[in-house]
Amino acid sequence: IQREPGFSKLTQEHVEHFRELLGTESAVVDGVSKDASEDIEPFNSDWMRKYRGHAKLVLKPQSTEEVSQILKFCNDNKLAVVPQGGNTGLVGGSVPVFDEIVINLQKMDKIRSFDEVSGILVADAGVILEVADNFLAEKNHIFPLDLGAKGSCQIGGNVATNAGGLRLLRYGSLHGNVLGIEAVLPDGTILDDLSTLRKNNTGYDLKQLFIGGEGTIGIITGISILTPQRSPAINVAYFGLASYEKTQQAFREAKGQLSEILSAFELMDGNSQHIVNKVTGKKMPLEGDHPFYCLIETSGSNTDHDSEKLQAFLEHVMENDIVEDGVLAQDQTQIQELWSFREGISECLGHWGGVYKYDLSLPIAQMYDLVNDVRDRLTKAKLIGDDDSYPALDVIGYGHMGDANLHLNIPVRRYDKKVEKELEPYVYEWVQSRKGSISAEHGLGIAKKAYIGYSKSDSMIKLMKQIKGLYDPNGIMNPYKYM
Ligand code: FAD
Ligand code: MLT
Ligand code: ZN
Repeated sequence: IQREPGFSKLTQEHVEHFRELLGTESAVVDGVSKDASEDIEPFNSDWMRKYRGHAKLVLKPQSTEEVSQILKFCNDNKLAVVPQGGNTGLVGGSVPVFDEIVINLQKMDKIRSFDEVSGILVADAGVILEVADNFLAEKNHIFPLDLGAKGSCQIGGNVATNAGGLRLLRYGSLHGNVLGIEAVLPDGTILDDLSTLRKNNTGYDLKQLFIGGEGTIGIITGISILTPQRSPAINVAYFGLASYEKTQQAFREAKGQLSEILSAFELMDGNSQHIVNKVTGKKMPLEGDHPFYCLIETSGSNTDHDSEKLQAFLEHVMENDIVEDGVLAQDQTQIQELWSFREGISECLGHWGGVYKYDLSLPIAQMYDLVNDVRDRLTKAKLIGDDDSYPALDVIGYGHMGDANLHLNIPVRRYDKKVEKELEPYVYEWVQSRKGSISAEHGLGIAKKAYIGYSKSDSMIKLMKQIKGLYDPNGIMNPYKYM
């Protein structure tokens, strides 16, 4: 891709304008003026260190009004921008491609209100997910989204990506839980749709376009969200199973026997668990080797009732040879230890160099066939192996089994065109032929932009482009990405 010639280049005058508007501390500059107050590099590279932009300016607004003034100026002057939250996105959406200005929301970090009766939280977009959840814990509530990046990602970034995470099975998607959004359009208009109503049938539900909009039509500055009561009884169990078929049986049994208290059902293949063990040095939770592992979490309101149910479930799946071995966490430390073997996978995979990542929705019954097919393919092409002469180390599968969401990951020693050619478009064609989605939860960003056609029809893409044109006629919002 080429830099869009219609966009202006940043000048000293532009920088002066922003410094006057925000103050020097909130307008981090590099390359334009000499007195850079902060290293700009972290804002230019993504979590995976796969994508690198060349922004010379990072703006950190502290209010919705400041966001509005920034965007109006950028729009009037044809300066392209990238909205940025915690920069933990996995599709390269949060970093510039060329010299787009980064607008980072980290200084908009206030909780605005919480209603203890309805459980509705209203907060700035830049609040870190874990901070929001800790605030809610004090009020006996829980943020209805949880994911491995919780310590750095922002709730605005979560909404912009429509993140799914570890408890979607229980609490549902952000499309249902987010009740309102405050956002700024490229022309500076503040869209005040920060409703705290659960029901509101008065026309098109415009906020839905911002949920999963990946910063392409406006900047989310505030959200209101329905938060559930926190469950006093949390239990976590971790199993080893002999086959993928058995994991499906276990999932069916878990739904049947644990029904209303089931809050997560996660799948990890044996390879993923060996990698966590190798990289972290932590002891495997179970003795012996099992081809598959599952993590089950229950959350309920009655400790005795939940323990009884889970115990009965465990006995049932063991007696019926559905699981080979299992362990039940006895305290909070063990709960975290077991979760670390699931949540730690992403970070451990990056240990050797790079990772080819695919985040797919597929019919549950066929989900793991793809992992096997890709492994066979790379083996035949002689691209996978134990010593350094092979670019790929392994093919691993894990994910949110309860949501039919597979994470297919290929950790590599180095990014290699030959590996990429074996994977793409093969993986996308495979998914399309099963009527799946090429992005279940991470979004499109720059990584999946070229492949949207595998999951959306031409007429849908055309309508998406018309919507983009309506909200952002100059195309300054997060260009070169999404579609
Ligand atoms: P960023 O990465 O900064 O931005 C993501 C996108 O949103 C970009 O396109 C950006 O332009 C846009 N954006 C950010 N803020 C705003 C805003 N205020 N207004 C408009 N646009 C904005 N995702 C899942 O769905 N499920 C998981 O289980 C999961 N686990 C993860 C685990 C790890 C260890 C990591 C690193 C990532 C994981 N992710 C997961 C990826 C996920 O998308 C992000 O972690 C998170 O949702 C992004 O939030 P962020 O604040 O970091 O956004
Ligand atoms: C996960 O479920 O762990 C995430 O979506 C992150 C990833 O796929 O790396
Ligand atoms: Zn995930």
